[in-house]
Amino acid sequence: MKEFETLLTEQRGAVMLITLNRPQALNALNSTVMRELSEALRTCDADDGVGSIVLAGSEKAFAAGADIKEMQPVTFVDAYLGDFLGGWEAIAATRKPIVAAVSGYALGGGCELAMICDFIIASETAKFGQPEITLGIIPGMGGSQRLTRAVGKAKAMDMVLTGRMMDAAEAERAGLVARIVPPERLLDEALEAAGKIASYSRAAVMMAKEAVGRSDELTLAEGLRYERRLFHSLFATEDQKEGMAAFVEKRKAQFRNR
Ligand code: CAA
Repeated sequence: MKEFETLLTEQRGAVMLITLNRPQALNALNSTVMRELSEALRTCDADDGVGSIVLAGSEKAFAAGADIKEMQPVTFVDAYLGDFLGGWEAIAATRKPIVAAVSGYALGGGCELAMICDFIIASETAKFGQPEITLGIIPGMGGSQRLTRAVGKAKAMDMVLTGRMMDAAEAERAGLVARIVPPERLLDEALEAAGKIASYSRAAVMMAKEAVGRSDELTLAEGLRYERRLFHSLFATEDQKEGMAAFVEKRKAQFRNR
């Protein structure tokens, strides 16, 4: 992977670890981060050697939101004509699974970026919030939609209208976070989860992500049909034969992405 100004990347086996790296601004998400993260994730999608991705921040902040200093002078016409923040949709279109490893602040766009990832593993220190209302704006990278789907209307309204933060325990109870771990375990836990994902059949993993992702968009009947068709298609893979043969023969499956 090439060098980036605002990201660090490191391949660990079949897992790409991407770390947001703007410590002076608590990883505030400016247009360079958006462009670079989009490029890094596109590269991961295109690289057969990468099976999954971990996205992390620093100990103090996963990301403290969109970059307020960059946003301050933006006019309506700039925002509308340039489809301001629209580029984050390209990040949401990543086809390989992304595990967010969240420590410290995940606020505004930081919380929204964590929610764009497929699931969140949080340190006990994590704090989630949508404080845009305190700046005279509303969430613009999916907070009003993804947070509502994750935690339900009551908590989403509370967060978006008051701007208060949720700690890790509340976020887990509410369904925003998949697991909470002690701070010193965060990266290992996220890398282990991503490593496990990357060890499975690539087609099955990507279809699993696609199927669960569609549940936000489809009716139950359409979603069930969509899932079943994807399920049927996996019987065309060698990996399905291998996975089931390995179970019957009481050995570990050797998936070859065929
Ligand atoms: N944008 C730009 N710079 C930011 C930033 C942001 N979102 N968050 C923090 N920083 C900068 C600060 O300006 C400060 O820089 P200087 O040293 O140059 O002054 C540096 O990071 C350290 O921050 P603090 O001194 O404020 O650190 P703290 O520990 O006292 O407070 C904090 C931490 C509570 C997270 C506080 O920084 C904060 O409230 N940040 C803003 C959070 C926020 O409102 N996020 C939402 C942004 S809007 C958005 O995201 C829209 C959207 O939907 C996409």
